[in-house]
Amino acid sequence: MHICLLVGSFAVYTMAVIEPEPLQQVDRTFVYSRGRKLSYFAGCDYFRLASHPEVLGALSAGLKRYGWNVAASRMTTGNHFLYQALEMQLAGFFEAEAALLVPSGYVTNLAVAQTLTGQFSHVLIDERAHPSLWDAAKAFDTPVLSFRHRSPTALAAVVERCGPAASLVVLTDGMFSHDGSVAPLKEYTAALPSDATLLVDDAHAAGVIGLNGQGSLEYSNLSHRRVIQTITLSKAMGSYGGAILCSAVLRRKIIAKSHLFVGSTPLPLPIVSATLQALTILRREKTLRSKLTQHTAYVRGGLKDRGLFIPETPGPIVAAKPKNSAATVKIQRALLKAAIYPSFISYPNAPATGYFRFVISSEHTNSQLKNLVDALADSADLLRRLDFEHEQTRETEQRNRI
Ligand SMILES: Cc1ncc(COP(=O)(O)O)c(C=O)c1O
Repeated sequence: MHICLLVGSFAVYTMAVIEPEPLQQVDRTFVYSRGRKLSYFAGCDYFRLASHPEVLGALSAGLKRYGWNVAASRMTTGNHFLYQALEMQLAGFFEAEAALLVPSGYVTNLAVAQTLTGQFSHVLIDERAHPSLWDAAKAFDTPVLSFRHRSPTALAAVVERCGPAASLVVLTDGMFSHDGSVAPLKEYTAALPSDATLLVDDAHAAGVIGLNGQGSLEYSNLSHRRVIQTITLSKAMGSYGGAILCSAVLRRKIIAKSHLFVGSTPLPLPIVSATLQALTILRREKTLRSKLTQHTAYVRGGLKDRGLFIPETPGPIVAAKPKNSAATVKIQRALLKAAIYPSFISYPNAPATGYFRFVISSEHTNSQLKNLVDALADSADLLRRLDFEHEQTRETEQRNRI
């Protein structure tokens, strides 16, 4: 039976997932919901570049100058110098040899897998990897083994099981969207044979962590030598689309082999213009990242001081799990009373019954941040310790744990 409680129109998910209410974002850090303006701690537009006037200006200038849709694959007549310009900028920003744009962050991993299919004896994947990595794992068309979330020891055990002749590709998120934790990439490389490849989905880390915002590789002090980094343009860059950061050789191979790349229309050019502008802003305004770090530290520190256990992670994501569905309803009410949108979500590889996830941005005000800390701290007795290393989800219950 599907159980679903409602507070106003806010769904409390238990067994079934229902379509969430449509929301209208306003004033960058607020949302209109049922006629009320509520603080919005959700989405992954970490620097609110999706509403930055310069990004919007580049979008409309791009529309006037280039039109909307090239309406052809880049491998036929749809190529344009602007795609190459953005790829060069992305390769420069992330210090990769090359970059290749694809239609969305989700399909970055699939395009890599389509290209490298047949090259590996085993795919090893973090049990809590994003669904786009699980879909890519299947597309490698070779046995897939999962390992315990963020565990180099578990990875080493799986490597051992594969035997000395194995050729391995390891799939993991760089920063996990459920709680902002980062994969121990350095430890993974130590646990792997020297010819193994890492495919890191850095959708959440790109632009956000690392000294220069280069993501989990920079954060872990790793180069692209053994690593393919995939990113979305829709989070830190507030735009849309995906990119693969890799060697020039792999870029050429993807162009030659990936049906997904060859057989699809590239991003609309105004989006490419907007992303170029977003990258310029990320490069120019270093304070965006430092503000994000300060805001995250303020919320984490405030909650800790008030006795709440919140996983200590580098990312701007705060996860909180209610004790039961009655507690969920009470917390939702408390958040609404504090004029905060109660972002209770159900997402693959997160707790099966849903959880509260608050995403901090560089643009929230101090009073919004304090309000969030106060509202959550007041609900402390309704929350239980959340530890994703051990948390069971629908997916992990179903999969064979190694
Ligand atoms: C880890 C991860 N990978 C890939 C994606 C997909 O990116 P996009 O929304 O650009 O398709 C997401 C988006 O939510 C994500 O969280």
